[in-house]
Amino acid sequence: MTTMKALVATDYGQPEQLTVAELPVPRPGPGQLQLRVAAASINPPDTYAITGAFGRVLEFPYVPGTDFAGTVTETGPGVTAYRVGDEVFGHALPRSLRAATAGAARPSLSTGALAEYVVLEADTPKVAHRPPSLPADQAAALVIPGSTALVLRAVAAVQPGEKILVIGATGATGLTTLPLLAAAKADITATAATEAGGELLRGLGADRIIGHDPEGYPTGVDVVLNLILPEDRLAAAARTLRPGGRFLTIIFPPPEPAKLGRDDVELHFILDTDGKLGSMATVAEGAISGELATPIARRYRLDDAVRAVVEHARHHPLGKIVVQP
Ligand SMILES: NC(=O)c1ccc[n+]([C@@H]2O[C@H](COP(=O)([O-])OP(=O)(O)OC[C@H]3O[C@@H](n4cnc5c(N)ncnc54)[C@H](OP(=O)(O)O)[C@@H]3O)[C@@H](O)[C@H]2O)c1
Repeated sequence: MTTMKALVATDYGQPEQLTVAELPVPRPGPGQLQLRVAAASINPPDTYAITGAFGRVLEFPYVPGTDFAGTVTETGPGVTAYRVGDEVFGHALPRSLRAATAGAARPSLSTGALAEYVVLEADTPKVAHRPPSLPADQAAALVIPGSTALVLRAVAAVQPGEKILVIGATGATGLTTLPLLAAAKADITATAATEAGGELLRGLGADRIIGHDPEGYPTGVDVVLNLILPEDRLAAAARTLRPGGRFLTIIFPPPEPAKLGRDDVELHFILDTDGKLGSMATVAEGAISGELATPIARRYRLDDAVRAVVEHARHHPLGKIVVQP
C-alpha cells in the first residue's frame, strides 16, 4: 500500500492536537480526481470542524483542508473534463461536513487537502482548471475569499458614492473584497485593530479606518458587510444603516432577522456552496484580470502544518496561510 504524509485529527480537539502522519494514498472512484497537492490554504472552518463547532459529524482519521491547487495524477471512471497532468484548483468538503454546514444539494466529496494527495469530485462548479498565470499558492489562497468576494459584490450591488461599512475587513475575505468595493467607487469605512492592518486596508482602497469598538461605527450607512460578528452582536452594526439599507453577513448560522433589531433594512445571508455566483471558473477569470487576489501572510511545509493551523487559529495573520507539501 502506498502511503503519503497528511495533517491528521484522530479525535475532536484543539489545533495543537493535530499531527502529521502517514495515511494510505486515496484512490479516485467514479467521477473523482486524484490530485498531487501543490498548495492548500487554511480557513476558519478547518478549526471549527476539528473542535466540533460544526457538530459531531466527522469521521476519523480526519484530514483538514478544503481549498487546494494541484496536479491531476489519476481520474476515476466517467471523468471527462480533466486529464492526468491538468492543473486545477478549488474547494471541496468532506461530505459529512458539507451536510452539516450548508445542506447544499451538490456533493463535493474530499479526502482533505492538507496532504500530499487528495481525492475529490470533479463535476462541481467549485473546481476548475488553474490558469498558467495564477501560481498554485495564490490559487489556493484565493479559493474561498475570491468566491465570497464575488458573491458579496453581486448581492451588495454597490452604487458609486454609497457608504459601506466593512466589519472584519482585515480577514482574508475582507482583504479580497475591499478592492472590488473600491473599484465600484464605494465610500468605504473598514475595521482594523492595528496600525499595520489599517495601512494595508488603505492600500486596498479603504477611505477611513475605525477600530473594533461599535462606538466608533459611522451612521447613515447604505451597506454593512459583516465578515466576523456573531448573531448576538449584529444589532450594533445594524444601527449604522439608513432606512432601506442592506445588511450582508457571511457568518454562520444564518441570523434570525429579529437579531438586527430593525425591520426597515434588508438582511442577506451569504453562502454560495453551490458556486452559482462564485464558481472557480469565475474566480480564475477574476484572478487573470487582476481584480481578485488574496494576500499570503505566510507559507509552511506540510511537515509544519500543525504550526500553520495553530498560527491561523491563535494569531490571525494579515492574509492567508498556505501549506505546500
Ligand atoms: N458564508 C460564507 O460564504 C463565508 C465565506 C468565507 C468566510 N466565512 C466566515 O467568515 C469569517 C471570517 O473569515 P475570514 O477567512 O475572512 O477570517 P480571518 O482571516 O480569520 O479574519 C477574521 C478577521 O476579523 C477581525 N476581527 C475579529 N473581531 C473583530 C471585531 N469585533 N470587529 C472587527 N473585526 C474583527 C480579525 O482581526 P484581529 O485579528 O485583529 O482580531 C481578523 O482580521 C469566518 O467565520 C469564516 O468562517 C463565511
